[in-house]
Amino acid sequence: MAKVILVLNGPNLNLLGTREPSIYGRETLDEIGVRTKARAETLGLTVDFRQSNSESELIEWIHAARGKCAGLIVNAGAYTHTSIALLDALRAVALPVIEVHLSNIYAREDFRRYSYVSAVANGLISGFGGHGYELAIEAMARLFERKPQSPKKKK
Ligand code: DQA
Repeated sequence: MAKVILVLNGPNLNLLGTREPSIYGRETLDEIGVRTKARAETLGLTVDFRQSNSESELIEWIHAARGKCAGLIVNAGAYTHTSIALLDALRAVALPVIEVHLSNIYAREDFRRYSYVSAVANGLISGFGGHGYELAIEAMARLFERKPQSPKKKK
């Protein structure tokens, strides 16, 4: 069965398309979801693409991913910079995490430069708009391919 990647989008990302288009572009979240799923399919992966404005709902979805999903792609929106609760949930389920941001969070206000999600993420993709989600799918597929290193043979 195809591995399932849970893609979580946090607050205000439902407004993509009309929200600050000079920063976030004109693409809607639905459009990003469609191309993320399409990219995943080409790599034999399935995507469960979700958005919530509620921190508690995001946390419930992370908990429910345990045992069902092989990895998480997370754009936590502003919760990225505030939520220890999300960090704890991600740490608790111990799944691979790739953090995504549409904008380059390091080229913006200082308060966006700290990410709680980064503390548990395998990696971070920031500043490539909706394409960042496809890059994250590719990175996740590569993580799955990585085999544990076999012990070196004694000579
Ligand atoms: C964002 C960056 C966050 O700082 C911001 O609060 C968002 C969107 C991004 O995708 O660039 O809501 O996560």
